[in-house]
Amino acid sequence: MSEPLSVLIIGCGRVAVKHIKAIRNLKGRLVLKGLCDANRSAAEKLLADSGLSGVEIFEDYKDAIGKLKPNITAVTVPSGLHFTIATYAMEHGSDLLLEKPMAMSNRESREIYETARRLNRKIAMGHIYRYLPIVGLIRDDIAKGIYGKVVYGSIYVRWGHDDDYYNSAAWRGTWKADGGALMNQTIHAIDLLVWLMGSEPCEATSMLAKRLRDIEAEDLGMAVLRLENGALASVEGATCSDPSRHSAMFTVCCEKATFTMGLDSGKAKLDIRSLGGKKLNCRYIMHQIKEFGLGYTIKSALNPHLGIYKDLAKSISENKSPIADSYAGFSSVDTLMGIYKSAKENRSVTLPLEDDFASTDMTGYNF
Ligand SMILES: NC(=O)c1ccc[n+]([C@@H]2O[C@H](COP(=O)([O-])OP(=O)(O)OC[C@H]3O[C@@H](n4cnc5c(N)ncnc54)[C@H](O)[C@@H]3O)[C@@H](O)[C@H]2O)c1
Repeated sequence: MSEPLSVLIIGCGRVAVKHIKAIRNLKGRLVLKGLCDANRSAAEKLLADSGLSGVEIFEDYKDAIGKLKPNITAVTVPSGLHFTIATYAMEHGSDLLLEKPMAMSNRESREIYETARRLNRKIAMGHIYRYLPIVGLIRDDIAKGIYGKVVYGSIYVRWGHDDDYYNSAAWRGTWKADGGALMNQTIHAIDLLVWLMGSEPCEATSMLAKRLRDIEAEDLGMAVLRLENGALASVEGATCSDPSRHSAMFTVCCEKATFTMGLDSGKAKLDIRSLGGKKLNCRYIMHQIKEFGLGYTIKSALNPHLGIYKDLAKSISENKSPIADSYAGFSSVDTLMGIYKSAKENRSVTLPLEDDFASTDMTGYNF
């Protein structure tokens, strides 16, 4: 068996905990070599909590990359820093697990995508929903045309966060480094909806609001996307909802079946019906267990970052694209920038955007 791939995590906050859990689960294929955080005590605490040994701690990401030369760099810093650190890591020889959103503008995201192509680097995006095994099986069947035409789809992401969450770090909820409910909490759901529906967005119309949270960006956003295949997709993203009842629900309506799945007020939900109402849940659950095993199905549902790392390691060893690749990262940010631009200019916009648009172009937006 080949040597395990070395991993460096840059940014030791909330999401890094899920990364460490996934890396530990993939012992033998991956080995954590370094933790880097501008705040050294965050890295020290993460390391102590992990119980791992042989891991070096750094405060400067350039020192860490230079010394460890990791196979994989996980970029888990605030979103406004993704572009600089991801680009530096790729230019210094690393493949990436890059958290969502890829970057804060369509220009930066396009540049990351182009750098990855030019240097032949793999980027696995932190678009967790694509990595639930059942989702891939459903997507394959829709893409094969088994259920006929994809007619329309919708998502709601009600990922309530209170003021404590927004006050926990200065970057949260800012146009420069985070964006609001759509950019942070909903972008990977938009990515999944579009992926399931099998077509790229070509038009966006949206409205934003700030209802409860004292942040710069939106705590509520609604959008309608037109896809190239003619289907429509509706998007609701909110952080002004109940923090104790998180939901991220997806519906895709095809000519011959309707797929409804996700998390509804904290409870997993799956309802797949053929035309006329026959339930198809069992077909997908059994297929999933047969293909991935019960243990992995449960573990990856509890921590989808496990699926991301497993797929990235496979992509590196087999020289193939990760499931959520650099194009997915670019395209979802371009769609998000289109949604923001539509709200700002109070009109529908065509996608992909022809001009550059950054989250900071929303500064001073009059809610
Ligand atoms: N895929 C997912 O499910 C998911 C979930 C949560 C967060 N995220 C994304 O992960 C990223 C981080 O989010 P978080 O909630 O973990 O943030 P966080 O604020 O909890 O952690 C970020 C860490 O980065 C460190 N940092 C800041 N600047 C740095 C620098 N220059 N060099 C090294 N370290 C630096 C901070 O000190 C902090 O410890 C964001 O982009 C967010 O959108 C993804």
